[in-house]
Amino acid sequence: MKILVTGGAGFIGKWLIEKFPAEHEIIVLDSLDEQVHKTLPDFSPELKVRAMCIQADVQLIEDHAEILEGVDVVIHLAAQTGTGQSMYEISKYVQHNANGTAKLLELISKLQRKPHRIILSSSRAVYGDGAYTDGKEVYYPKGRSLANLQQGLWEVYGDDGQMLTPLPMQENHLTKPTSVYGLTKLWQEQLLQNYCESQNIDLAILRFQNVYGPKQELGNPYTGIIGIFTNAISQGSPLEIFEDGLVTRDFVFVADVVDAVVKCVVNEKPLNSIINVGSGQAVTLIDVVQTIAQLVNKPADFKISGRFRVGDIRHAIADMHHYQTLLGQWEPTSLKNGLAQYLEWYLNQEPLSSETLQASLKEMEQKGLLLTKRP
Ligand SMILES: NC(=O)c1ccc[n+]([C@@H]2O[C@H](COP(=O)([O-])OP(=O)(O)OC[C@H]3O[C@@H](n4cnc5c(N)ncnc54)[C@H](O)[C@@H]3O)[C@@H](O)[C@H]2O)c1
Repeated sequence: MKILVTGGAGFIGKWLIEKFPAEHEIIVLDSLDEQVHKTLPDFSPELKVRAMCIQADVQLIEDHAEILEGVDVVIHLAAQTGTGQSMYEISKYVQHNANGTAKLLELISKLQRKPHRIILSSSRAVYGDGAYTDGKEVYYPKGRSLANLQQGLWEVYGDDGQMLTPLPMQENHLTKPTSVYGLTKLWQEQLLQNYCESQNIDLAILRFQNVYGPKQELGNPYTGIIGIFTNAISQGSPLEIFEDGLVTRDFVFVADVVDAVVKCVVNEKPLNSIINVGSGQAVTLIDVVQTIAQLVNKPADFKISGRFRVGDIRHAIADMHHYQTLLGQWEPTSLKNGLAQYLEWYLNQEPLSSETLQASLKEMEQKGLLLTKRP
C-alpha cells in the first residue's frame, strides 16, 4: 500500500509511522509548524529513513500532485490543535484545519486513481459539553454560563437548576463544539463526509479523546496538560489546577490511538463510520496530578485556583462500544501504566522553563479568556 500521512511529523504521526510494516510505502507531508517543532525543526532521522518526507503546508498540497498519484490510503492528521489558542487565533485555525482539508480534497479530485480510504483524526471537541441526564431524560445543555462559573458553580445544570450527570460520549450524540478548534474539526468531518460519499471513498472518522504519551512536543505550551503537570512536579515547582480540580477527562495512551488508526488502515471491509477513541475512563485532574507525583516519588505542590478557561468543558469520557463492534477488542493502557511510560521518556528530556509553559495562559489572560471565580 502507498499511504499518505498529512501532519505525520507530529506527536501521533511519529508513533504511527513506526507501526507500519516495511512493505508499505509511506509519504509524510508536514509543514513542520514552528509552534509544534521547537525542539527539532526538521523531520526526525527515523522518519526520514522510513518515509518520503515533504515539508509543505496542506493548503499548498497541489504543488505535490505527482507524488500523491496512486496513494491507496490518506491519513489526515495535519491540524492546528490548541483549543484555547483557537479562541483568539480564529482565522489561523479555520485556514489550516478547514481550508487545509478542502485543498486536500481538491487535490484528490484531480488524481487519476483516487485513494480507496481516508482516515481523519477528529476530536472529542466536536461534542462540546456532550450529553447529560437527570436520571430520566437525555439533555444537550447549552454549556456552562459565565455567571455560574464566576460563582464557582462548575457543574452543568438543567433549566430547573438541577445538577445533571454527564453521559459517555456516543458517536450518534449531537455535535455542539464550544471552541473554534472543535468547530474546525467538525467542518473537517463534514467536508470529508460530503466528498467521500459523492466519490464512493471509504471514510473512517476517529474522534480521539485527550491523547498523551512519550514524544509529545514539550515546547508547545498550547497542548498537553500532562506535560505541564509533569514538568512542575518533577522540578518541585508549584502548579495550578483550574476550577475545583474535579474537571474530568478521558486520557488515552498514544500507542492505543495508533493501534486504532492501523486497524482502520488494514481493515478489509468498508468502515464508513465515526469511531470514538478514548480509554473509556474519566479521571479528575487531581487524580492525574497525584498519580504523577506517586510515580516520580515527589510531593505535588498544587493549588486549586478557582480560575477557569472560557469554552472549557467540564467532563469528557468516550463510550467505546461502537469501536468494539467495528474493530474488535479494546483493552486500553491504564493511566498508571501509560504515565509510567511517559515519565520514563520525559525524565530524559531537557526540562522546560516555566515561561514557555505559561505562554498560553498569559495570552488567554490578556484576551479575557482566563477568568477567576468571584470571592
Ligand atoms: N493529541 C491529542 O490529544 C488529540 C486529540 C484529539 C484529536 N487530535 C488530532 O490528531 C491530529 C494529530 O495531533 P497531534 O497531537 O499529533 O498534533 P501535533 O501538533 O503534534 O501534530 C500535528 C502536525 O501537523 C502539522 N501541521 C499543522 N498544520 C499543518 C498544515 N497546514 N499543513 C501541514 N502540516 C501541518 C504540524 O507541523 C504537526 O507536525 C490532529 O488532527 C488533532 O486535531 C489530537
